[in-house]
Amino acid sequence: GAPVEMKIDKIEPGQLVRSEWRGSPVWVIRRTPAMVEQLNLTDDRVRDPNSDQPQQPEYAKNQHRSIDPEWFVAVGICTHLGCSPQFLPRNFTNMDGIESGFFCPCHGSRFDIAGRVFQGVPAPTNLVVPPHYFVDESTILIG
Ligand code: FES
Repeated sequence: GAPVEMKIDKIEPGQLVRSEWRGSPVWVIRRTPAMVEQLNLTDDRVRDPNSDQPQQPEYAKNQHRSIDPEWFVAVGICTHLGCSPQFLPRNFTNMDGIESGFFCPCHGSRFDIAGRVFQGVPAPTNLVVPPHYFVDESTILIG
């Protein structure tokens, strides 16, 4: 499929914007500094903190799983059986200040705000980061 261009300059901090690439939903989230900070709290609760699993772009193999910590790009499909996880910017859990993340209503999988799967849930792997790059400060090309 053709790459998809997304304008990101109108996205507010804390907001998720949806697009589609190769028939799959794609999310772009502009994380707040507080959201990025929460990743320190989830590091030892997630299965694969540095995305060592295969099939991730090199720039997803870090704590924030992105090129720029502010911007998170992911395929919006649960890695368990393909449901659509909910984005919960607030009130995600009451654990230790972890407020933001993704919850899959089908079988209860949880992912942190970098799409890293928590331990002890059915989803086996982190949310998929699609290939993408920044064309300029206001444009991401996905694909
Ligand atoms: Fe998401 Fe099963 S499909 S938890």
